[in-house]
Amino acid sequence: MVNELHDVPWSDLRDLAREATNRSYAPYSHVLVGAAALTTSGTFVTGSNVENASYGLTLCAECSLVSDLVRQGGGRLRALAVVAGDGEPLAPCGRCRQLLFEHAGAALLIDQGEHSPALTLGELLPHAFGPDDLPARSTP
Ligand code: THU
Repeated sequence: MVNELHDVPWSDLRDLAREATNRSYAPYSHVLVGAAALTTSGTFVTGSNVENASYGLTLCAECSLVSDLVRQGGGRLRALAVVAGDGEPLAPCGRCRQLLFEHAGAALLIDQGEHSPALTLGELLPHAFGPDDLPARSTP
């Protein structure tokens, strides 16, 4: 199990995310995005953005990463790196913050590059609505 910030192999995650930009399908924006995450059980998952001629249907790299996680049998995300084609960190968009919350919770560590401390998903998506809110807030 990986529990501490210093246990996270950030440079491996960055390398995997950079590698994933090579599998990006971005003929419209030309913004290549790759994502890589470490699960709490120590496995890696990756994703790349997949654009569409109907622009709004574009799948972000994080979306593809969540698919990879579920396809591998599921689990919880512990640490994440997302980069653009220049290899530098890219902030997950609002929709992806919500998608990631479902599979990680507020504790997910998000890379900010080697010179800045990681942020948590709770910092990027405060007061999140999540799966626990459904039973708690449903009207019988
Ligand atoms: N993109 C991602 O893959 N993840 C994000 O969190 C932000 C944006 C992609 C979607 C689109 O293919 C391109 O970046 C430009 O928006």
